[in-house]
Amino acid sequence: MIKKHTTERVLSNELIAQNTYLMKLTCSEDAMRFYRPGQFAHIEIPHARELLLRRPISINYVDFEKKEVHIAYNAIGKGTKLLSLVRPGDTLDVLMPMGNGFMLKDDMKKVWLIGGGIGIAPLKSLSCKYPDREYTAFLGYRSKECVYQIQDFESFATTHVATDDGTFGVAGFCTNLLADELSKDKPDVILACGPLVFFRTLARVIGDVPAFVSMEQHMGCGTGGCATCVCKIGGEYKKVCTQGPVFDIREVDALYE
Ligand SMILES: Cc1cc2nc3c(=O)[nH]c(=O)nc-3n(C[C@H](O)[C@H](O)[C@H](O)COP(=O)(O)OP(=O)(O)OC[C@H]3O[C@@H](n4cnc5c(N)ncnc54)[C@H](O)[C@@H]3O)c2cc1C
Ligand code: FES
Repeated sequence: MIKKHTTERVLSNELIAQNTYLMKLTCSEDAMRFYRPGQFAHIEIPHARELLLRRPISINYVDFEKKEVHIAYNAIGKGTKLLSLVRPGDTLDVLMPMGNGFMLKDDMKKVWLIGGGIGIAPLKSLSCKYPDREYTAFLGYRSKECVYQIQDFESFATTHVATDDGTFGVAGFCTNLLADELSKDKPDVILACGPLVFFRTLARVIGDVPAFVSMEQHMGCGTGGCATCVCKIGGEYKKVCTQGPVFDIREVDALYE
């Protein structure tokens, strides 16, 4: 897998929902040639020498024609707040694409995507790599103000939306919507992204449907050298940064302990 350490130019960096930003960056065609959805960019925070660690942010979309990489992120801590201040024309030091990403076998035609909040972001990129599948998306947001990219999902997937407070779509969690649909139909595979607590619920509702999850584990180096990101997978400790972030849900031991 070609990974590239590049300096990329910021094309735009806009607020698209409550505390949610969409950044568009130039991308080296070479580095992204073998890109897989679910891989991430490891970004050095500019003008912040005290922040030694890069921040991992999933690739939200790759526009191969325009040679752009898009990322969507929440400004939650020092690093991502500084990232939100970056302006068009600024440059960023980026390692990408990182991690394994989602892989769809040829017989996985019917694909259901499920994500909550910022965990929705990497799922959109399935459409640019595997346009020939039949997609259904289950998207969960806290409230109306947090909703982003629904129209993008609607352009390639049958899309179901839930908000925790019921201000947009159906009230409740998107895992309830998924459970309802699973009582009527079954996909070939479910792909998910979000925190561990979300995967716990998912593990309870999916029955025997194959499912892969992208884990948002805390990271240090992001390149396999520090073991900050280790997680017990199938009884062995694995590095989420290089052996993940995507794993078979049934191998994530923490979900079944
Ligand atoms: C593979 C992967 C993909 C991700 N994709 C996205 C994305 O698309 N959009 C997005 O908004 N966020 C994403 N995250 C989470 C994002 O990396 C953290 O929100 C971010 O690093 C927080 O940095 P900070 O300086 O703002 O916060 P701080 O809390 O100041 O960060 C302190 C340290 O904790 C780590 N950290 C804090 N929160 C998280 C978290 N939830 N997950 C992992 N590390 C964390 C940081 O890397 C940093 O080392 C992803 C995380 C991983 C592992
Ligand atoms: S973050 Fe250092 S080994 Fe994974």
